[in-house]
Amino acid sequence: MTFNNAAADEDVNPLADPEERPAPPAVFIIFGASGDLTSRKLMPAIERLALRRLLPPGFAVVGVARTEMNDDDFRERMRELVEKGGGGGAEARHVWDSFVGAFRYIAGDYDDPDTFERLKDVLAELDNERGTAENRLYYLATPPSTFPTVIKGLAAHDLNRPTSDDAFVRIVIEKPFGHDLQTALDLDATVHEAFDESQVYRIDHYLGKETVQNVLALRFANAAFEPTWNRRYIDHIQITVAESIGVEHRGSFYEQAGALRDIVQNHVMQVLSMTLMEPPVTFDADGIRDEKVKALKAVEILTPEKVKQQVVRAQYARGWVGGDEVIGYREEEGVNPHSTTETYVAMKLRVDNWRWAGVPVYVRTGKRLPKRVTEVALQFKRVPHLPFAPEMVKDLEADSIVLRIQPDEGITLRFGAKVPGQAFRVRSVSMDFFYGAAFLEETPDAYERLLLDALIGDATLFIRSDEVEQAWHIVDPLLQAWEHEDVPLATYESGTWGPGEADDLMAADDRRWRRP
Ligand code: BG6
Repeated sequence: MTFNNAAADEDVNPLADPEERPAPPAVFIIFGASGDLTSRKLMPAIERLALRRLLPPGFAVVGVARTEMNDDDFRERMRELVEKGGGGGAEARHVWDSFVGAFRYIAGDYDDPDTFERLKDVLAELDNERGTAENRLYYLATPPSTFPTVIKGLAAHDLNRPTSDDAFVRIVIEKPFGHDLQTALDLDATVHEAFDESQVYRIDHYLGKETVQNVLALRFANAAFEPTWNRRYIDHIQITVAESIGVEHRGSFYEQAGALRDIVQNHVMQVLSMTLMEPPVTFDADGIRDEKVKALKAVEILTPEKVKQQVVRAQYARGWVGGDEVIGYREEEGVNPHSTTETYVAMKLRVDNWRWAGVPVYVRTGKRLPKRVTEVALQFKRVPHLPFAPEMVKDLEADSIVLRIQPDEGITLRFGAKVPGQAFRVRSVSMDFFYGAAFLEETPDAYERLLLDALIGDATLFIRSDEVEQAWHIVDPLLQAWEHEDVPLATYESGTWGPGEADDLMAADDRRWRRP
């Protein structure tokens, strides 16, 4: 069986995108092929792309990692993973069997030149045997400390540049992009010594989520919303990235990260910039990224004093989530019992530009909150004059528009409506759009979407170096203040919506957090 772009005759969805683009021939090279990300995200994404007939016959995978394995062990391991992850089934097995022959594995250290020599040989072999056309997509799925070693290794063996005019060489880099502003700049310098920025695809899986992209569709394809999307009508913005899970088996990783680096520096900043940005002139990678950078540049940089006033950091204690009793962060495996790493952050940011002056943005993110929900809520100002008696509108909240990024992907508009009956009462009601119901289609997984984009060469949903830098400019002062100043660390019971201090932050402005 080959992978062509012919749609299966059965199950044709009339609302599906008729122009799905297949990937060109290429070798996908994963550094860190024996790791968690490869098994949880990359291989399942590859399998789904294959099942959707979006991978051509000239597609091959090379895994590189330190674990000793041969090609067959690697193939078997990948198959087991995919099957365990819910893949499998007769069709999947058939597809898998037909392309697993193009899987190779190289066991080696990243600082050993021999690893790269062998990689070079395997790539040449695949070009000859499988028609992979000298195209390469590298993927750094290793611990971030090894990124510079791998990048330098590729450059030292001339694996960083295309070998012909028609071929491409690209590199996908996983977050975290640096540990703070300085290390991010250092990493970028290393990347740019080996690769041109146009070859670099920094991945933030939030950008692969359909609903994050839908922020752009909602704002820039409609005349109905954009006119109100500014300081004249919006009172404030709330961005929530809540998770019910704890740190799971990633305690020692999380100790070095914390919620600010793990979620705010990347996912929140991406969602924030798409919410705040001006309309791009063109819908292409640089058109969009230029506007996102401009939006981030308008975000207030907090002084240490303001960090104390406008930011709350906290850590989860024991509690109950979804009916189960759960342990506190300091009791998690791999976590220092005296840890001061934050698992929750809430903050208020000012945006200093024409559109948003005077409209605060409140952000909160945390683990072990009551449920998993990511949303952006724009709360409108109250009308200038309410011609109703107070009791008629006592159940009327301010209007809002809520972009539900996950779960229940969609959009809710909250507005006031008359309660049926003789009395004239106005109450807030919701008008809901559900993504799944409207398009009758399963949304592709973020990694699936982003891998295909990187293979095709569309960088729109990847982060440019100046975006990363700007996001660090916003986040770095918080890290500095936490390290050098006396900033308290609050606690919250697992299964609650965070510490009381976060409610106080809102109450000081006479506002409340939404209950998603
Ligand atoms: C990752 C973080 O980037 O995003 C995790 O490292 C977090 O800690 C995850 O759980 C959340 O992603 P999603 O897609 O479940 O919202």
